[in-house]
Amino acid sequence: MKLFIDSGNLKEIEALVPLGIIDGITTNPSLLAKEGGDYKSILKKICQIVKGPTSAEVVATDADGMIREGRELAAIDEHIVVKVPFTKDGVKACKALSSEGKKVNVTLVFSPTQALLAAKVGAYFVSPFVGRLDDIATSGMGLIREIVDIYENYQFSTQILVASVRHSIHIVEAARMGADICTCPAAVIEGMFRHPRTDIGLERFLKDWEKAQAVKV
Ligand code: G3P
Repeated sequence: MKLFIDSGNLKEIEALVPLGIIDGITTNPSLLAKEGGDYKSILKKICQIVKGPTSAEVVATDADGMIREGRELAAIDEHIVVKVPFTKDGVKACKALSSEGKKVNVTLVFSPTQALLAAKVGAYFVSPFVGRLDDIATSGMGLIREIVDIYENYQFSTQILVASVRHSIHIVEAARMGADICTCPAAVIEGMFRHPRTDIGLERFLKDWEKAQAVKV
């Protein structure tokens, strides 16, 4: 399963990419708004750091506007994946941009029927939001299970990008279900590394080694 950072923050991205575990980045208007500055140059820098798929979202709400913005975003860097919201206009824009050979991420997906339609118009990624479903007492991971089944039935090539990930259990369940990608805030990725038993074990190994060296001297 590929791992993306859900962030527009260069420091977070620069800290995690050198570890070799990051396959791409997702941004959205809320994340980029937090950073301030010129969003196009931020996106360019992100692409240069990660050298992998970097989702950048349109803010137009009509299909023509989305297509125009999508072309502008795609021109920033070869790694840009144009993100469009799941609306009728978004679906129309996805079809048009995909037909031009641009990669499109259909976002704000909350139901299996939306995911089915996104695949039918050639989405490169589909982004179901698991955390925001959990927030309203609906199983986010249940939605992923349904999309995995549907895409398998018809061999759709659209990749399932699990979004709105809040904790490690989302990641474990996504991986067990065979989702293609999880995009996670940097703090959630940091959490994947931690286990107290690893720290205790390492401390003990090093102490035992030091003791043995002291005896030799
Ligand atoms: O990029 C979209 C997404 O991952 C949003 O997550 O935590 O704001 O629901 P969240």
